[in-house]
Amino acid sequence: MRLIHSIDEMCGIISGARHEGKTIGLVPTMGALHAGHLTLVGRARQECDFVVVSVFVNPTQFGPSEDFHKYPRTLESDSRKCESGGVDVVFSPSAGDMYPEGFDTWVDVKGPTDVLEGQSRPGHFRGVATVCAKLFNIVEPDRAYFGTKDYQQLQVIKKMTRDLNMRLEIVPVEIVRERDGLAMSSRNAYLDSREREAALVLSRSLDLARQTFASGEHNAKAIKTRVLNLIAAEPLARVDYVAVVDAETLDSIETIDRPAAVLLAVRIGSTRLIDNTVLD
Ligand code: PAF
Repeated sequence: MRLIHSIDEMCGIISGARHEGKTIGLVPTMGALHAGHLTLVGRARQECDFVVVSVFVNPTQFGPSEDFHKYPRTLESDSRKCESGGVDVVFSPSAGDMYPEGFDTWVDVKGPTDVLEGQSRPGHFRGVATVCAKLFNIVEPDRAYFGTKDYQQLQVIKKMTRDLNMRLEIVPVEIVRERDGLAMSSRNAYLDSREREAALVLSRSLDLARQTFASGEHNAKAIKTRVLNLIAAEPLARVDYVAVVDAETLDSIETIDRPAAVLLAVRIGSTRLIDNTVLD
């Protein structure tokens, strides 16, 4: 496995792999790799001849009061995990190379970015879409793998590739959970033991949403109310949003008469966590 920092070197390696007729899989990450990321890597390994994992804490997707500076940076252990996962290249460019002086071109996906995470974190999806477009141009993957935990991000990336005729497949990969249900996230590392316990309210409230739906309740507001009540009973939790939306467009819906997503953002202490489930 190779660890590459230079964009030019990465492009050269990709040209070589393409020349050999290899299919290329990209797993874009911000590092601090956990079992969820490694599931994406495993899937890419199965489906592609040449696997690249990008590790780049992308400054443009963090708001001024967000955790960019404290976001975990663990390149050495990330590289070891990638090596064990059969990755061919870890690509970890510098912020200065990705955003050199004078950089001022942005990918602004409308529609699914206007609500929820887009509203709570202005500019976030512009940063995500822009860095993904750049990574797609550098690595030229046939397939790129994204976890469904960042549900809205996945819809934004899918829309960007459709709207801009990008010639790659976006492969969604199911959320990986701890045994007790907590969705894996690099931000779980911020939780102390009391907060870790409290964080289970996210997956429990999604279980409740699924049970309520399965028992025949198809009114979106009724399901949302039950979820909100459960979260309100956890003293360390503060709801940022709970939404029941069309699973593809993310438009809010009244009756669940088509696939719907329940999306949550909840602060546990000072850590903001997201989770979701699809009702179908
Ligand atoms: O999901 C993430 O880790 C990031 O948003 C991504 C897709 C790597 C872009 O920086």
